[in-house]
Amino acid sequence: MFLDVTGRDDASTNSGDHRGAQQPLIVAKNMTVGYKLHRERKLLTALRDITLTVNRGEFVCLLGPSGCGKTTFINAISGIVLPWEGTIEVDGAPVTGPGPDRAMVFQDYALMPWRTVESNIRMPFEFQKLGMSKQQIDERVERYLDLVELKGFEKSYPYELSGGMRQRVGIARALATEPTILLADEPFAAIDAMTREAMQSELERFVTKTRQTVVFITHSIDEAITLGDRIVVISRRPGRIKEVLDVNLPRPRFDQDVKSLPAYSELRERIWSLVKDEALSGAHGEE
Ligand SMILES: Nc1ncnc2c1ncn2[C@@H]1O[C@H](COP(=O)(O)OP(=O)(O)OP(=O)(O)O)[C@@H](O)[C@H]1O
Ligand SMILES: [Mg+2]
Repeated sequence: MFLDVTGRDDASTNSGDHRGAQQPLIVAKNMTVGYKLHRERKLLTALRDITLTVNRGEFVCLLGPSGCGKTTFINAISGIVLPWEGTIEVDGAPVTGPGPDRAMVFQDYALMPWRTVESNIRMPFEFQKLGMSKQQIDERVERYLDLVELKGFEKSYPYELSGGMRQRVGIARALATEPTILLADEPFAAIDAMTREAMQSELERFVTKTRQTVVFITHSIDEAITLGDRIVVISRRPGRIKEVLDVNLPRPRFDQDVKSLPAYSELRERIWSLVKDEALSGAHGEE
């Protein structure tokens, strides 16, 4: 078992308001965002006219075909890319660049191979001025090492760990700074099915306790339904919001057999009908 949250400093702050209280935290209005393709000397629109509000304490899943702009969406929240049109605000202020209030977890872990587990978790504290003393940082790193059950592996290097363990380092690194928003880009996609379910369950437990706000990208309909409070279905590029669905299933979902509930299969069918055509045309290699 890992991700036991006892002792998290801001657990009370995050747990202050129930999900139902609906305090807007991330607000995108008519946001269009894309990239300059220097070689081709043209512009590529990745997302078009996105309007979405993520409330404090909400777990929102982004689902859509490859290349539809999901990563771009969380890059816009984190401030790595800025909107061409429209606006994006976090906690009432326009996003102008990355900040310690938003932390990322990636599919390929993005660990530094020459750094030990402990040193990887310590990284954000070196790059961001969080006003913490060395002792406070040491305590934080230790607590989150413990949380993801990597005690004893502090001095190991990433190549000495399994995929699941590497991802736990990535999660610990993101959570150690206790960000307001956790941005997760297919964090469990490269992990075997059994470990993946275990990690989903632990993440759900953590989020339920801390009311951590999460924006989570996945290609898996089941992962989106078992984790999300809401699921945002995005169409093929340029990505637009096709539909936003509420997941009205009891929590914790991993402790009970939610997959056998009629509401689960109804939602699954609804989402499949939304993504089917795009998934099939993608599988046939159509543009
Ligand atoms: N740094 C970049 N420079 C230029 N184009 C980019 C860049 N990043 C993404 N794109 C383009 O933007 C579009 C959306 O990409 P994005 O990575 O957001 O998709 P995605 O939904 O995350 O896809 P996947 O599911 O495959 O990860 C794609 O057409 C991609 O080629
Ligand atoms: Mg992506």
